[in-house]
Amino acid sequence: MLKLGVLISGNGSNLQAIIDAIAAGWLDASIQVVISNKPDAYGLQRAQAAGIKAVSVKPSSFAATADPTHCYNDALRRILQEYDVEWVVMAGYMKLLGAEVLDAFPDRVINLHPALLPAFPGAHAIEEAFAAGVPVTGVTVHIANERFDDGPILAQAEVPVLPDDTLDTLEARIHETEHKLLPEVLSTLRSPARSR
Ligand code: GRF
Repeated sequence: MLKLGVLISGNGSNLQAIIDAIAAGWLDASIQVVISNKPDAYGLQRAQAAGIKAVSVKPSSFAATADPTHCYNDALRRILQEYDVEWVVMAGYMKLLGAEVLDAFPDRVINLHPALLPAFPGAHAIEEAFAAGVPVTGVTVHIANERFDDGPILAQAEVPVLPDDTLDTLEARIHETEHKLLPEVLSTLRSPARSR
């Protein structure tokens, strides 16, 4: 059973998709902890409703320290390790993750992105793909590194842009696709070998 730590910043519909896949019995995983950088993220309520430990860590609470970004990421690392997490999943986590976390979980941090990387990286991928008039966009799941939306791609799913699409209808289909692809990719991951 895969032990997951899920990082979120908002709605948490992808977190919900993971919760649902576990409940349905086809994803052999346990969400050990959910962490949000925003205390009002709705995803925290989704976690609590599912009986999952939900924590918010505000980056601004480290503002008075000598190195706020380091202290914030170190706090994330400590919580993830405290809850015995094996794989970290950024599911709509809208911040760059620091080396403190990436080094503690080498090649075991996953990011979800609503476009076909390397096309349309960044926080406005769906809007930018729609505005560019591309015939096809999609969803990417990849191993995260210290840059935004970069790192080895694990899986992609295409989403065609239909002639009568609005931004809203395209967004809805992209989210539907994310909700399938992310749990599917998670179901292919394995726990790291433990040293004895
Ligand atoms: C998703 O589209 C994700 O790819 C993007 O932010 C959105 C988060 O959605 N980075 P949710 O919080 O999982 O509902």
